[in-house]
Amino acid sequence: MTSRDISYDERPEDDRGGRVVPVRLQKFLARAGVASRRASENLMTAGRVTVNGEVVCELGSKVDPLVDVVAVDGAIVSLADGPVTVMLNKPAGVITTMKAQSDRPIVADLVPTDQYPGLYPIGRLDADTTGILLFSTDGELGNALLHPSHHVPKTYLAQVSGDLGDSEADRLRQGIELDDGPTQPAEVSFVGKRRNHVRITIHEGRYHQVKRMFEAVGHPVIALHRERFGCLELGDLKPGEWRELTDDELASLRR
Ligand code: URA
Repeated sequence: MTSRDISYDERPEDDRGGRVVPVRLQKFLARAGVASRRASENLMTAGRVTVNGEVVCELGSKVDPLVDVVAVDGAIVSLADGPVTVMLNKPAGVITTMKAQSDRPIVADLVPTDQYPGLYPIGRLDADTTGILLFSTDGELGNALLHPSHHVPKTYLAQVSGDLGDSEADRLRQGIELDDGPTQPAEVSFVGKRRNHVRITIHEGRYHQVKRMFEAVGHPVIALHRERFGCLELGDLKPGEWRELTDDELASLRR
């Protein structure tokens, strides 16, 4: 399920202190690998699907995967245990952590950890940075994507203070000296005619790297947004929304 089905704010709080994430029954069946969504609807209308022992034919019915017992022809169905990778459009002000340490909002509240326990962020974005943040239950995928030898490109839009000159842009392109060593070459371009809106692609993922790079050339970052991670783009994902990666996206990412 994507958060477009139920907007985040509409999700009711549950009595476990988390969020109930109801899923349309046919979608649940499809995701569990029972049949396609259309064929799952046929199973439902044929009266072959039960939820907590009751036959459910209504196509709008929803289930809570954590609580409800779904069966087809009497056989219990559960969500596949295979790895899951999701993309979040991280809003500003949310901390990249799965464990709350204060009252500040955290990314764990925005991704479906109740459906997919074990989801873990692949890397991190600063609290004030927005955009693509991946999560996966597949630790190997996460490690591979973060490993410096794989040079996965990450593209950011940075609003910086003052207008960046050509020579400063060139310094960023060639690589500049930071306190933890020189940066690798980066791609740098201006967004339209504005010299304070810069698109930068880096192939590393060091702590606060983009901010430190702009700081080093005298143009501190005012706002930062990650618009691409490897081959992945946000598309029409709104801030705070998540979606599962498509099979094609996963295949490209693994390549
Ligand atoms: N570089 C930064 O400085 N901050 C981020 O959040 C991501 C990359």
